[in-house]
Amino acid sequence: MKIKVSRKAHFNAAHRLYRADWSDEKNFEIFGKCSNANYHGHNYELIVSVYGEIDPETGFVIDMKVLKKLIQEKIENVLDHKNLNIEVSQFKDLNPTAENIAVVIWNILRPHINKAKDLEVVLYETPRNFVTYSG
Ligand code: NI
Repeated sequence: MKIKVSRKAHFNAAHRLYRADWSDEKNFEIFGKCSNANYHGHNYELIVSVYGEIDPETGFVIDMKVLKKLIQEKIENVLDHKNLNIEVSQFKDLNPTAENIAVVIWNILRPHINKAKDLEVVLYETPRNFVTYSG
């Protein structure tokens, strides 16, 4: 019997979407206000889900205390109140779109989750815009 368990988390962070090899006009055309040279912030909502068999001994798919701590240490402490472009190494040469942030989060967490379980990351950049990545 497989089941999905999820933990919600939150961080806010600043970013700028742009390509250095494009003109300001082209950046604005593609990224709109998100290309603002002085950065802007989002309140990101994160849902991390682990899918797999229930351990018959504990009744857990994953211990939520462990998942909570993992998200705090590996994601919130790294991304919260940061300028993603400047302060988070993964985005040095990678546009910090919701898509790319979700993939970075998944890649950070994956090695820490039992290989037998599936991992899914849902990231809300705004209450209406969200992306899902499961590897
Ligand atoms: Ni933005």
